Amino acid sequence: MKAIQVHQYGGIEVLQLEEVSMPIPQNDEVLIQVKAAALNPVDSKIRNGYLKDAFPSTFPYIPGWEAAGIVSAVGKKVTGFAAGDEVITRTPFPKGGGYAQYMTAAETQVIHKPAALSFPEAASVSIVGAAAYTALFQVARLQAGQKLFILGVSGSVGSLAAQMAQKAGATVISTANGHTDIDVALDLVGAPAQDALWPLLKKDGLLVSSATPPSQEKAKQYGVNATFMMTSPDRSIMELVAGMAAKGEISLKIGKVLPLDQAREAQALMDGRTIKGKIVLEP
Ligand SMILES: NC(=O)c1ccc[n+]([C@@H]2O[C@H](COP(=O)([O-])OP(=O)(O)OC[C@H]3O[C@@H](n4cnc5c(N)ncnc54)[C@H](OP(=O)(O)O)[C@@H]3O)[C@@H](O)[C@H]2O)c1
Repeated sequence: MKAIQVHQYGGIEVLQLEEVSMPIPQNDEVLIQVKAAALNPVDSKIRNGYLKDAFPSTFPYIPGWEAAGIVSAVGKKVTGFAAGDEVITRTPFPKGGGYAQYMTAAETQVIHKPAALSFPEAASVSIVGAAAYTALFQVARLQAGQKLFILGVSGSVGSLAAQMAQKAGATVISTANGHTDIDVALDLVGAPAQDALWPLLKKDGLLVSSATPPSQEKAKQYGVNATFMMTSPDRSIMELVAGMAAKGEISLKIGKVLPLDQAREAQALMDGRTIKGKIVLEP
């Protein structure tokens, strides 16, 4: 089968289209024919070695941590899926596997694809949806009536976070305009832009970042709380956000769909921030 493989850390040139062996599902795994694999900023951070301490890569590896496709075989212990099922998967770091014609995933990291979502939409919703949901409702415990500031609201996590927060009755603010009364500031950009958020927070407010761990010294200095958040490949959150998308409660823009052999162009477009919305590869 065809796959994009990475043999060393580096720029987009390390993404190589290669012929590789078909993956064989373990007893607890599902073999998926990938119909769409979504890109995320983390793909580039792993590729260029920025996350090598947290998630060291084993070379060669196939990138792509979320995808949608059709089950083509299942391991002996798999009970919830059968060949022909349309599914979504999110694999844990550093496993990957989505930039390929076929991938394996543990049954626990696979859900049924809602019929209302296209393959590109289904592939795109897990990581950014889980990031928005986790930050707002599991970490910040956002309540109706609270004020939420989002840095990076034009991005995929930001747009979903804004939709989820509004639905929950919070007020979403994305231009600073002298605010000093923000309950929760969500940082989706990272340092150094993150520093603009400290003075916006009310006393005991919370800064949550998905991009750079915030300084605890600065949090103390401003009398606020601050934390970094990580999403987990948790099936219940995947089901929740995919369900919200299928019901039209949240919508995610697909910016560009490209064939697998244009993985370099796809990551360059993402890194260059020239395309709004998710970038998706179709093997
Ligand atoms: N920790 C986790 O579990 C987790 C999960 C998902 C995502 N993330 C991280 O969260 C961040 C957002 O993800 P995403 O998928 O929403 O990315 P995205 O769609 O590319 O959006 C990024 C947002 O940040 C803005 N931005 C980027 N660089 C900027 C800069 N130098 N100055 C000002 N604004 C900048 C973009 O603004 P423009 O519109 O102007 O480009 C856009 O609004 C990424 O760092 C990603 O790695 C973390």
